[in-house]
Amino acid sequence: MSRREPLVVVSNRGPVGFLVGPGGELETSRGAGGLVTALRPLVDRHEVTWVASAMSDVDREVALSGRRIEQSASGSPFALRLVVHDAEVYRLFYGVVANPVLWFVQHRLWDLKRDPAADLGRAWQHGYLEANRALAAATIGELDRVPDAPVLVQDYHLYLVPALVRAARPGARIAHFTHIPWVGPDSWAVLPPEIACAIHEGLLACDSLGFHTERWRAAFVESCEALLGRGAEAERVSHANPIAVDAVEFDALAANDGVIARRAELLAKRPEILVVRVDRADPSKNAVRGFEAFGKLLEHRSALHGRVVLLALLDPSREEIPEYVDYRLAIDRAVAAVNDRFGRPGWEPVSLVVRDDLLASVAAYAEYDVLLVNPVMDGLNLVAKEAPLVNGRDGVLVLSREAGAFEELDEWVVPVDPLDVEGQARALERAIELPDSTRRAWLEGIRSRVRRHDLDAWAERELAELEARAPLPRGRATMGL
Ligand code: G6P
Repeated sequence: MSRREPLVVVSNRGPVGFLVGPGGELETSRGAGGLVTALRPLVDRHEVTWVASAMSDVDREVALSGRRIEQSASGSPFALRLVVHDAEVYRLFYGVVANPVLWFVQHRLWDLKRDPAADLGRAWQHGYLEANRALAAATIGELDRVPDAPVLVQDYHLYLVPALVRAARPGARIAHFTHIPWVGPDSWAVLPPEIACAIHEGLLACDSLGFHTERWRAAFVESCEALLGRGAEAERVSHANPIAVDAVEFDALAANDGVIARRAELLAKRPEILVVRVDRADPSKNAVRGFEAFGKLLEHRSALHGRVVLLALLDPSREEIPEYVDYRLAIDRAVAAVNDRFGRPGWEPVSLVVRDDLLASVAAYAEYDVLLVNPVMDGLNLVAKEAPLVNGRDGVLVLSREAGAFEELDEWVVPVDPLDVEGQARALERAIELPDSTRRAWLEGIRSRVRRHDLDAWAERELAELEARAPLPRGRATMGL
């Protein structure tokens, strides 16, 4: 599909957020997360209207002025329609259901000792359903302008939007992409059946459903069969299409002055062996076990003392959610435990920086000897794809078998089981000792895979899958922006 086509993209977090600058002027900040980056080629190539939630007070004010034209990072125009939610609705939607429930269930972080909370049903009705209704209503409004436009709904925040749009516009062409893992029927059984069924029914209202891996797609088919007896339908509408990264963007970032300056700072104090991790500070990323594994490595290999540092760059995330606050404290404790036990003047074994600083992350990508990516579960994990693109040291990737990216990159990584701390310590040791020729060959293997399956290919495949299942009626032209 090469012509410019009107598209409606719907996600909770939009591609830009708004803030008020020092002089009182309105500034935009780029929305965080892989989802927003991944959809950029769609904005560059098509006439996109993006429907998203207003997330800050400034966003809410901006939303009052209605639909507006914004520019993508690469200068392409798109229309932005921000949806304002009632504050309590949004809290129940994002802070009670989407993250502590759906994110945790789908990353197997559910805690049966405590969950589900007694008032989940209320949070579902008055939070998740309400917020989905509001985003669906805005989407339907956009479809009134461009009736045949593909509607591309994103992620776990919006499982009900497809069915709500379908009920109002039966002929709509709707796709959904899930950016996180899918889990089988036993995992969904922790939720009240009416909620689990609504999620699966919501998605089956789509013409096309995308997942990062065959494994997540197969789990979806299985859970549709177990919950609704609709496995065959799920099989027909779903496909696996792992998301990609923008190699050109990372090439440019590596040459960015800010990255070069941060790289120089890192070089000035770099140890002989630099182990790096870069993540959102999220329990699914498994930073605590990573620090424990690094401690085990130092326990087993005193020859490494003073020579190796683990640099952890963590992006603060979802700080209003109690489980995330607890996990941040656990991170601090785990780092202190290693540093108190092994540190000595002039050598701090773990260096923890909790800050949103993309340029510092890219500098660390360039400098790592070992990159630790050990999530408990991860839909894909973009760091595993981004960092090798710019690494200048034949760095080795230690990668969790539970990250979606493992399906693509397994030939060129040291694999780890994320719950096995001893195993991760051994994997770090193996990565440090890997022969030069293997290091180089593995890094090249990852790079060529990542460059081959690029973002344009990902986005065009999403549109092609929808077109194949819900073709635009012949002779029907769509209107522009
Ligand atoms: C993950 C999710 C995205 C989300 C991002 C940031 O990558 O799959 O949907 O946008 O995290 O999370 P946040 O809660 O900050 O929007």
